[in-house]
Amino acid sequence: MDPVSQCKTEVDVLWSEEKTLQPPENFKNRANVKDPVIYRQAFQDRLKFWEECARRLDWYQPWDKVLEWNSPFAKWFIGGKLNASYNCLDRHIEAHLGKKIAIYWEGENGNTKALTYQDVYEHVNKMANVLKSMGIRKGDRVAIYLPMVPEAIFAMLACSRIGAVHTVVFGGFSAEALRDRINDAQAKLLITADGGWRRGAMVPIKTMADAALGQTPCIEHVIVVQRIGQDIPMKQGRDHWWHDLWEKAEAYCEPEPMDAEDILYILYTSGTTGKPKGIVHTTGGYLTGVNVTMDWVFDLKSNDVFWCTADVGWVTGHSYVVYGPMSNGVTQVMYEGAPDFPERNRFWEIIQKYKVTILYTAPTAIRAFMKWGVQWPKSCDLSSLRLLGSVGEPINPEAWLWYYENIGHGHCPIVDTWWQTETGAIMITSLPGITAMKPGSATKALPGIDAEILNEEGEIIKEGGGFLSITSPWPSMLRGIWGDVQRYKDTYWSKWQGKSYFAGDGARRDKDGYFWFMGRVDDIMLVAGHNISTAEVESALVDHSMVAESAVVGVSDEVKGQAIVAFVILKDGNRPSKEAEGLLKEHVSQKIGALARPKQILFTSDVPKTRSGKIMRRLLRDVAEGRALGDVTTLADSLVVAELKKQYDEV
Ligand code: WT7
Repeated sequence: MDPVSQCKTEVDVLWSEEKTLQPPENFKNRANVKDPVIYRQAFQDRLKFWEECARRLDWYQPWDKVLEWNSPFAKWFIGGKLNASYNCLDRHIEAHLGKKIAIYWEGENGNTKALTYQDVYEHVNKMANVLKSMGIRKGDRVAIYLPMVPEAIFAMLACSRIGAVHTVVFGGFSAEALRDRINDAQAKLLITADGGWRRGAMVPIKTMADAALGQTPCIEHVIVVQRIGQDIPMKQGRDHWWHDLWEKAEAYCEPEPMDAEDILYILYTSGTTGKPKGIVHTTGGYLTGVNVTMDWVFDLKSNDVFWCTADVGWVTGHSYVVYGPMSNGVTQVMYEGAPDFPERNRFWEIIQKYKVTILYTAPTAIRAFMKWGVQWPKSCDLSSLRLLGSVGEPINPEAWLWYYENIGHGHCPIVDTWWQTETGAIMITSLPGITAMKPGSATKALPGIDAEILNEEGEIIKEGGGFLSITSPWPSMLRGIWGDVQRYKDTYWSKWQGKSYFAGDGARRDKDGYFWFMGRVDDIMLVAGHNISTAEVESALVDHSMVAESAVVGVSDEVKGQAIVAFVILKDGNRPSKEAEGLLKEHVSQKIGALARPKQILFTSDVPKTRSGKIMRRLLRDVAEGRALGDVTTLADSLVVAELKKQYDEV
């Protein structure tokens, strides 16, 4: 059976695809995009269409050519020059929006800040000068390892102002994960914090950074944001307090005119091998993509209060906390902490307090809210909301309907947005004033995006299941993997000989042309909406002195979408035990981060492999999810599975 048909979901059972939900009339009437002709215009002249989108930005110099496509290498808006930070700040101030609130920041512990566009502008300019004074030049890499504080946004925009390439590492990642990313990117400077708050506890970010910095010879300077105010070790000559530098910095920094194809950032994402991939995004195409999708998909109005709950460490934070909202001059909420601290209604309190109009969050969060019960959202006034979004993994129809009814009270359209770190911006979702919704379906490709379901041979499947593919280049697409051209070609373009982009997702198209996503078809797990590769966790496990071999699978999990189950073969002389299980879980946490902590570890004497030595993850998933086993005759040793299953059932 092919991988796609294997990941059949409950979609068919729960929600018939015949049924659709129309966007509410009053939403439709006021929508920014209400004429479906936009799809036809984009289809008839795709390049002209994207050119018009790019004109939403301010350019120092217009482009000579829209697209150069030497598969699989794309260049967009060739010859054009612009600056991302100018587009996110200066132009709003010139348009007299300096007094508009850019960020309502809500610290987990109750600290708050309201920052105007003028405030953000001042911070970014000063920080840009600080970076310059530390020897950072155009093209240099700067690593950012921060909690959800406004300084994370300032730091990213300061980099883009001077043409430095930022690489943000999620603050929940381990010291080793940080070290590997810094070294791969050869970053010269690190921006971090003395700590952060999570569920009332202090997260020792600087301690983790220090552990990484022991093995990152490329780092010359470290800038430390004071968030906690605790006494922490500062290394003379290397470490500097953000506020000290800031005070002495010059107020204005001229933005660097960047080539449309100059790199804006590198963001690491899991690959099917243990080594993360540094996804490269450039300036002109990326900014065009996030700017225009922000407006279309979230139907922005000048008085909206937008809240994307993602951390800036993920692409969702890059595109829909930093570059999308800021380049559109939006007022947004940024929240530092956990959704259940101090109570399980924290999100709803924040919505009530700031009168949030658009909420963009993840299915894993929605499923947690479902589990906690409707009394929490009911305790707050959510009437300011007018649009809801979902991102990160397929949203099951049950969670969709719960979100629609209990958060949106039946009057907010839901945009289920499919995209990836690699695509830079939203690709498949509804236009909320036009598209009839089907709970559980991401609906249709946005105008200007050519998406199809292809089979193994690359033939288009109009109705039915297969592999999701993007069949023409798009402005915000990745330009490569940092330092590894071959891997870029192999991962995304080899499946159909460079003709079409392979996204790695299984999907199905119904008779109305709607897309239904069914999960990854490769060895990447989606845990709480985040990419973690099986290989990454396996290599963390075998790194432990007790472990001989391991095989990791993602199994369905009620809240997180997928949870990690590890099958572990211990080295001779080690015995399976509860302690060993605990130690190994902790070890994975240490190596990668708490996100990758296995839910369960099962000790075994062998794992099933094909005759060519490939781990049979499908079988392991069957075992872990308690399903009956199918055909095992292709296995090197079919007895292994039977043995495993017996063991597992006993647990
Ligand atoms: C993978 C990309 C997109 C930003 C956050 C994750 C899955 C994402 C959806 C959705 C079904 C989705 C896909 C994709 N995914 N959004 N609306 N419906 N699946 O970025 O870490 O690069 O992960 O997330 O499997 O390939 P990422």
